[in-house]
Amino acid sequence: MHVRIMLLLMLAMSLAACRDTVEVPEKAVFKEDDLTEDNEPLKIGFAMDTLKEERWLKDRKLFQEAIESHGLEVEIRAANGDDALQIAQAEEMIHQGIDLLVIVPHNAEATAAIVHKAHGAGIKVIAYDRLVKNADIDLYVSFDNERVGELQAEEMLKLVPKGNYVYIGGAPTDNNAHLLKKGVFNVLQPAIDRGDIRIIYDQWTADWAPEAAYAHMSEALNINDNQIDAVIAANDATAGGVVKALADHRLAGTIPVAGQDAELAAVRRIVEGTQTMTVYKPIQNLSERVAALAIHLAQNNEFKPTVSINNGKSEVPSVLLEPIAVTADNLKEVIIADEFHSEEEVYGKE
Ligand code: GAL
Repeated sequence: MHVRIMLLLMLAMSLAACRDTVEVPEKAVFKEDDLTEDNEPLKIGFAMDTLKEERWLKDRKLFQEAIESHGLEVEIRAANGDDALQIAQAEEMIHQGIDLLVIVPHNAEATAAIVHKAHGAGIKVIAYDRLVKNADIDLYVSFDNERVGELQAEEMLKLVPKGNYVYIGGAPTDNNAHLLKKGVFNVLQPAIDRGDIRIIYDQWTADWAPEAAYAHMSEALNINDNQIDAVIAANDATAGGVVKALADHRLAGTIPVAGQDAELAAVRRIVEGTQTMTVYKPIQNLSERVAALAIHLAQNNEFKPTVSINNGKSEVPSVLLEPIAVTADNLKEVIIADEFHSEEEVYGKE
């Protein structure tokens, strides 16, 4: 619990400083205009990419709870990485008369068509966690993904200031994967320029698939004769594939590995020492923030944050939340204290 209070305090202080979201209700007050002309409660559509990774199950649950806690309705669809299905699902929800669409794009480019269709029906669109490219999206709410990459690289450089690095990237269709990688190289580039570290292997991982990450890491070990000193994987699912490949070579626990998402399996790997760090992103904050903003915009209220991100088409109004680096040292006070996972789950028998 106190991590979220700490974050909210940090947020309040920085927001007070930048007057960003002071106007935005943390909790939308249920008012008459939560009802449509025909007196129906407002309905929010949530078009998700996948439920494959552990976090998205949490996002779905927490977002649904946040919307329903205001007495409003929510329609949820997941496209399991299928672009055509995601477009069809969004079209279906638009035709069913949703009042606002929240989307987690599978493919940052392909989903521009959905924004176009929604606007054609007078429906605003909020990008959740991942940006939609080349579309007039109304709002983007996520964590600072570049900062996530920086936190990963900072932790690795502390442990391995010199040596051979492997980068296992995320899905190239996901704009976050590009932001993460930019953050990693923001931190590593000076050491690369000094010749202290070498990037000896660097690959994207289609659809963030652990099996593909495993294959990439196996190849990296084989072509470099196991001469690897550190691995940065774009998220915990891919880090799991990396650690599996290291285990095949009896190297698990001897080479530092970075991940993201604070998945239970990854937090357990940090406890057992086969993974070094992960990045925690309090999904409760993200889902509640997007729910409050979705209701605010669906009521035709204005929201003008000071932050904006260019998505190739326009300067998209944006809210970026703070990520937190997690190692074995602060795991308890960050993950357990925030009830993201329980002590039993992390330290108990599998
Ligand atoms: C990213 C997200 C990460 C990760 C990944 C795989 O966009 O920011 O948390 O889980 O997708 O779904």
